[in-house]
Amino acid sequence: MITEIKLSDLNPEQFISEKVQEIRKVVGDGTAINALSGGVDSSVVTMLGHRALGDRLRTVFIQNGLMREGEAESVEATFKALGVDIEIIDARREFIDALKGITDPEEKREAITQTFYKKVFDRIVRESGAKFLLQGTILTDVDETVAGIKRQHNVFAQLGIDPQEAFGYHILEPLLQLRKDGVRAVGKALGLPEKIFTRIPFPGPALAARIIGEVTEEKLETVRKATSVVEKILSGTGAFQYMAILHADRVTGMHDGKREFGTQIEVRCWDSTDARTATPTKLPFETFEKLASEIITSVPGVVSVTYNIAPKPPSTIEAV
Ligand code: XMP
Repeated sequence: MITEIKLSDLNPEQFISEKVQEIRKVVGDGTAINALSGGVDSSVVTMLGHRALGDRLRTVFIQNGLMREGEAESVEATFKALGVDIEIIDARREFIDALKGITDPEEKREAITQTFYKKVFDRIVRESGAKFLLQGTILTDVDETVAGIKRQHNVFAQLGIDPQEAFGYHILEPLLQLRKDGVRAVGKALGLPEKIFTRIPFPGPALAARIIGEVTEEKLETVRKATSVVEKILSGTGAFQYMAILHADRVTGMHDGKREFGTQIEVRCWDSTDARTATPTKLPFETFEKLASEIITSVPGVVSVTYNIAPKPPSTIEAV
């Protein structure tokens, strides 16, 4: 049973010093490794780990080919400015190959988990000799995995899987008692730039969670472009999270006076405090028009743009 630390009960400075002590105690004079995705959770873990271990923490950014536009470069630059060196590992081919032909949402998540832990990360950890892995799992990830709503890609102990046995290393999860709001407060106290600690959540399976059906390089390119537009236009809304989803269904549209069986992008924009429940943001119609026009002009093949108006539950925040 994990004891939740609510934002109202959280003292970020105290939390940081406790977690730094804990990490030092567990890792001893060994070395640890962590994967940074650039999201709030893994960024906070990276800073905590570096405070605790300095150079004894190796931070890798795994380029899985499922990330947003320019993500690897921008994460590297942000952390360099904070004095933390990030190593970028190119594993694009392995992830794309693992996802080939898979359409079922859980199978897609499983393929990403297996490729991440058993192939790519396993190799990196073995090469590094690190016995400890720092991970940014938060309480919401655990809740939803245990409830069987969705298989989060970073929850093992809660599923009765021993990472030591299965993968050969210990996993430390210093954010396990927090929800997103608490993680942001800790990020701020750690001196992360505002653009990081206020960043909207982004799922572990990355853009693969936003493609319905098989994930291909072409579809990734489409959803990546649409994501950039959506993030640019909705960044000032104060919404909890916003995204573009690429549908598997084709819809009839027209281009240059000719019928075109094109693709459909669904925009989602959520109001939420902790991702457990969420409602669609009441955006002004002008914003919808802007979204439609920019997505249609900058993403080839798109002939339809829709907005999700169903709350969570029964919807979920991501589409896969
Ligand atoms: P859902 O789609 O389950 O999402 O309503 C709830 C929150 O969790 C994020 N999410 C994930 N985060 N690994 C993660 O680290 C995952 O596999 C994953 N799936 C969803 C989602 O973006 C939302 O903020």
